[in-house]
Amino acid sequence: MTPATEQRVPGSGVGSRPGRKLSVPDIAARKRGPKLAMVTAYDYPTARRAEAAGLDLLLVGDSLGMAVLGYESTVPVTMEDVLHHTRAVVRGAPGTHVVADLPFMSYQVSVAQAVENAGRLVKEGGADAVKLEGGRIVQDRLRAIAAAGIPVMGHVGLTPQSAGSLGGFRVQGRDAVSARAILADAAAVVAGGAYALVVEAVPAELGTLITARVPIPTIGIGAGPGCDGQVLVSNDLLGLEDRIAPKFVKRYAEVGVAMETAFAAYAADVRSGAFPDAAEHGYAMKPEIAAALHKAAGE
Ligand code: KIV
Repeated sequence: MTPATEQRVPGSGVGSRPGRKLSVPDIAARKRGPKLAMVTAYDYPTARRAEAAGLDLLLVGDSLGMAVLGYESTVPVTMEDVLHHTRAVVRGAPGTHVVADLPFMSYQVSVAQAVENAGRLVKEGGADAVKLEGGRIVQDRLRAIAAAGIPVMGHVGLTPQSAGSLGGFRVQGRDAVSARAILADAAAVVAGGAYALVVEAVPAELGTLITARVPIPTIGIGAGPGCDGQVLVSNDLLGLEDRIAPKFVKRYAEVGVAMETAFAAYAADVRSGAFPDAAEHGYAMKPEIAAALHKAAGE
């Protein structure tokens, strides 16, 4: 769309969050409610709409690998991918707290690598905070990132970057041993200085127990209603994703069907000549100029 032809379509104005971007202390205070509402965003228009709708936090998750780049997992996602999408989201939602994921192998190699890449997401990407997966095993990374002054969010339970070692995208913490391990991971994330914690794909009882045990807000995805907030992948809740349907997803729209219907209707109109309508979608020329043009063309 060129500036000359651009038409502004206002947002629906259905949002409920007050205009100010939530700070880290604001988010920490939400341990006492109201619950935090977070979605993933990977692009400018989605970020704009999410901000207009009043979301508390946006996550540029490495789920972008599967949601928008067409990979089978989050493993191939690079720092450059996350930076590119984070910049777009920050441009679209300048008044919303944006968290960017550290992708696979951007923090596993060393503490120094973790701090350097967390710094890039904030400095070059414009993110307000970063998120990384793991518990006890990444505590030193969390501590170093927090010590560098970068707000850092933890992520325990199902950690998709290590889905290979976890036996796939499976519910975690169903038996007492693994539930205790996740509780220990959550405690390590707190000790590492994280300001919030994503808890993914664990039984609701465990989500509630972790929430009661940690002093920072928990943000659940498939972790039951007992968490301090919830996050969903926007493509899932919008009904854009139809290849996989995790049980914990609630679809709030059928955007994918709406897109296919609209594309098909457009194609049919183009083929039949119903679109464009000369008057409604075209630009008029003064009759005398048109006449002169035809004359010059020898008609
Ligand atoms: O990458 C992502 O979208 C995530 C959410 C599933 C929390 O980490």
